[in-house]
Amino acid sequence: MEVVILPTPAHCGRVVADILARVVEGRAGQPLTVGLATGGSPLLAYRELIRRHREEGLSFAGVRAVLLDEYVGLPVGHPQTYREVIRRELTDHIDIDDPDVHGPDGAAPDPLQAAVAYEHLVRDTGPVAVQVLGIGANGHIGFNEPGSSLRSRTRVKTLTEQTRSDNARFFDGPDDVPRHVVTQGLGTIGRAGHLVLTAFGSSKADAVAAAVEGPLTASCPASVLQLHRHATVVVDEEAAAALERADYYRYTLLHKLANQPH
Ligand code: F6R
Repeated sequence: MEVVILPTPAHCGRVVADILARVVEGRAGQPLTVGLATGGSPLLAYRELIRRHREEGLSFAGVRAVLLDEYVGLPVGHPQTYREVIRRELTDHIDIDDPDVHGPDGAAPDPLQAAVAYEHLVRDTGPVAVQVLGIGANGHIGFNEPGSSLRSRTRVKTLTEQTRSDNARFFDGPDDVPRHVVTQGLGTIGRAGHLVLTAFGSSKADAVAAAVEGPLTASCPASVLQLHRHATVVVDEEAAAALERADYYRYTLLHKLANQPH
């Protein structure tokens, strides 16, 4: 695992955008699927990708995208469905075809069946080259709340009250946050070729430390990154504040060999 500690969230956004842009530019006519997170953490990276598309000609033509998760019970087109959020924050502003952006169907009459269908869709649309991840203050990735099986597949999960209250800022009030989601499982996420987790701010410091340096445990679902062959954690100084080996990660970054991946 590579841990990249940077001064500000803006620096983090540029590094995450660099990683995505590199695979997009390097696809050489081959099909490419990227995995996108929603929430606040990836927004600066998405803005940077939009800028590069507009100002530097970065093209996403033919790229497919899969979302990590979706609320259950919000009607199609609701502004807080993750399908709408990703349109608004990224895909409406770049040259990716809207039908090539996929998310779980949270409005389906049978969400359990929708989860199974989405697991198949991710498998058939993939392999996911790069999966962008945020992290919850309780260590969740996707909406795999603590206690999630480290090998889980896409399924319906019940949000913790902490996550509902963390996400209430996007809704009119805390009661409007759905209780259930369809989320890619930890095993599903782990099939991506490169996991890129980004976080900033002091509220994420404990979760980041548990994920990177704590034990591998379902109690911190993001600790599953420790099992992955190619995981990059991009954090600002505040989110890195509880990392015991922070100096080593900085040292490693300063002394990377040419082409040393991680
Ligand atoms: C969103 C998702 C979640 C968020 C996490 C952090 O698609 O999968 O895991 O990444 O809740 O949210 P923010 O970035 O809003 O702090």
